[in-house]
Amino acid sequence: MGTYTMRCGFNLFAMLLFAAVALPQTTRYNMGRTPTSEEVQAWDISVGPDGKELPPGSGTAKDGARLYAQQCASCHGVTGEDAKGSPRLFGGQGTLNTPKPIKTVGSYWPYATTIWDYIHRAMPRNKPGSLNAGQVYALTAYLLYKNGIIQENDVMDAKSLPKVQMPNRNGFLPAMQDIVSKHCRLGTCP
Ligand code: HEC
Repeated sequence: MGTYTMRCGFNLFAMLLFAAVALPQTTRYNMGRTPTSEEVQAWDISVGPDGKELPPGSGTAKDGARLYAQQCASCHGVTGEDAKGSPRLFGGQGTLNTPKPIKTVGSYWPYATTIWDYIHRAMPRNKPGSLNAGQVYALTAYLLYKNGIIQENDVMDAKSLPKVQMPNRNGFLPAMQDIVSKHCRLGTCP
């Protein structure tokens, strides 16, 4: 009898152990599913500084001016100084090392490709993702032109955009170098 109880107890223990180990693997929670490759592609839209992810398409500042007036000026302003609650997108060059720096995509951002990426993923703010690649090239060209970085007829595409030299391209220091040079300025070189 004693042996029987023990065996029963052991079997019960073994069953519970099996259930505890096996349960998480067999239980289906019906939460989510593996995304399709089209879905992954739709989210995989980042464009880095070298612009190698930029898609086909092209645009000039002339095309961008019309789009800007229709879809951007209501928030960002027409002249750049009349932005209403949104960042101004033009001007500010030469102000970064003054007591009142004006940081715009033209004066501050180090890579032109980031402007393309940002507009493509996030703007217009009330309808992100609604612009096609050509429209984004045109708007990027318009912002670069209004900031005095390219000419009005310069065509922006996957080849030309990464070559645009932004005024503040060399204004950023790697974090460690920053700390070292700050200490050295204060006479406490590490
Ligand atoms: C409904 C208002 C609204 C509209 C329309 C809009 N934007 Fe914006 N935009 C914003 C706001 C607000 C920000 C600041 C970031 C944020 O809060 O999302 C911003 C940020 C930006 C930035 C980054 C600026 C920086 O210095 O960080 C760019 C570039 C930009 N917008 C471009 C555009 C372009 C191009 C259009 C037209 C296609 C557009 N925006 C339309 C509201 C708007």
